[in-house]
Amino acid sequence: MLSAVRRCYNLKPQVPRVRYLCSTTVPAGSKVSAHSFEDFVHKRQEEATRSVIVQVSSERSFPELYNYCRDYGNIISAFHYCVRHDDVQHYILLEYENAQQASEAIDSAAYNEDLTGVPVRSPFLWFRATGRKTIQRDTVSGSKTQLAALDGIRIMDNEALMGTLREAVDIEKQIALLYENTKLNDLGIRLRFLAASQVQQAISGMFPLARALPFGSSVNGFGKNGCDLDLILRLDEECKGPDSKKRPESRLVFHTKENLTNGRSQTQRQMESIGDMLHLFLPGVCHVRRILQARVPIIKYHHEHLNLEIDLSMSNLSGFYMSELLFMFGEFDERVRPLIFCIRRWAQSCGLTNPSPGRWISNFSLTCLVIFFLQQTKQPILPSINTLIRSAAPEDVRITEDGINCTFARNFEAIGFSSKNSNKISDLLLQFFEFYSQFDFQNKAISLNEGRAVSKPDHSALYIVNPLEQLLNVSKNVSLEECERLRIEVRNAAWVLESEVENYQQTGVDKSQEPWGLLNLFKTPDKNIIRPNMFFKPRILEVSELFDNTETPPATKSTSSNTATA
Ligand code: GTP
Ligand code: MG
Repeated sequence: MLSAVRRCYNLKPQVPRVRYLCSTTVPAGSKVSAHSFEDFVHKRQEEATRSVIVQVSSERSFPELYNYCRDYGNIISAFHYCVRHDDVQHYILLEYENAQQASEAIDSAAYNEDLTGVPVRSPFLWFRATGRKTIQRDTVSGSKTQLAALDGIRIMDNEALMGTLREAVDIEKQIALLYENTKLNDLGIRLRFLAASQVQQAISGMFPLARALPFGSSVNGFGKNGCDLDLILRLDEECKGPDSKKRPESRLVFHTKENLTNGRSQTQRQMESIGDMLHLFLPGVCHVRRILQARVPIIKYHHEHLNLEIDLSMSNLSGFYMSELLFMFGEFDERVRPLIFCIRRWAQSCGLTNPSPGRWISNFSLTCLVIFFLQQTKQPILPSINTLIRSAAPEDVRITEDGINCTFARNFEAIGFSSKNSNKISDLLLQFFEFYSQFDFQNKAISLNEGRAVSKPDHSALYIVNPLEQLLNVSKNVSLEECERLRIEVRNAAWVLESEVENYQQTGVDKSQEPWGLLNLFKTPDKNIIRPNMFFKPRILEVSELFDNTETPPATKSTSSNTATA
């Protein structure tokens, strides 16, 4: 499509750009070559410095906008998207060849004469109508204006998605379609890095080394379209990694402001000021809320030009390094991301997860459960974190200012892990449900570091050892009832999925007979359906055949919800 834009507007050929797994389709059955997280983040940050966002009256403004803006440099791609509130607002993201050209476009911008607002310069612009009829000189007659994306961040509604899945040839294809149609797309990633760049730019005068780093589902490869942006703002150069030198040899030393209070209070005070700055000065930022008493103090805000909910923190980088770990697990094997998408969707549909935090399992904990399962298969699909730690080189050393050791190998070749497991994703999905149907939640904790179940150190209902702070439990919030519900739902899911596989093997897919496959797995549970009220016994393979390192499954239990496990 981009080539069509170039043809229409005589765009110069584009220098081939690196494409990232997060934004590309992985052909089924082929291995992907793994990318480094730091390269991914660095290239997206650089891309943001070359981009501007222009509000337009509709996508039809593109030829005129393009003709106007190319005076400042070579536009190599353009994307249209809409933000829907009471009415529909249209935006076009223009990507220039270099940051200088984007700056020239920004520097050329004027303030609206009627403007009573604060005169801030930023990459968020709008395209003023001229009041006279413009000639679309570059529109090739008969050819339509095209953009790389049209309404590019629209989320497919559930009905359309289920219709798409219904048309698939088999469950394997349904999983692939679910992933392709719901994962965060290229434009979504661009907008998130622009949001980060806006914050970083805003404080760059006082803090030229400051970094605003996206983490969480926006960058770990497990984000879906429309996901919130988690952002960490660092004022110092710690985030530059091991290359950053504190210049011990320099005889010139900066005068600095002394810290007024202890570390946490200081961070809270700084965040109050940052919150004010966002609220008072940054275009697009609205509904700023300061949640400074939380364990990790955050500022929440909405960006009306990007249609984004943003959580900004300043505390420590362990969440960022955790995202790097998750990103790497997604890069190890092309089955990991589609499988996790499918399991997250299932958990959402049966109410195990909820967008607001509470006594239920979070998406992050659920992702840990899937990764742990993939470390457990007889032929593991993912390595343990200890394997990554053992392969670390000196350049992988990362210790946060709170002393959290985030050292693990970043170089896939050095880790040298490859899996011999060739199971299809649909088989892995069923095995996941079977595995947790029989997992001893009562006595065992899940350790991604060890890649095996370990004894539970306390009485938490669900215990997932925090991979970067091993004395903590990632799922400490999960109540006994929610853990029990998880056990019941995985059994039900195994039962449903096994029936679907059997039906498919007997009759093939009959699209007239709907719903089928994943649609039945994602159905809101019907309380009237009687599921086998006994311990789930897998019929495809014995669990003991599938998994190493697990203890014997616990004795048969009723699926009744009042069966306490701890
Ligand atoms: P959604 O926001 O639900 O789409 O998923 P998310 O992965 O972004 O989860 P969330 O916003 O809850 O957390 C953001 C990121 O912080 C996660 O992806 C992890 O990288 C990290 N994180 C969350 N909880 C923990 C934790 O208990 N320990 C550590 N080290 N990191 C965490
Ligand atoms: Mg998040």
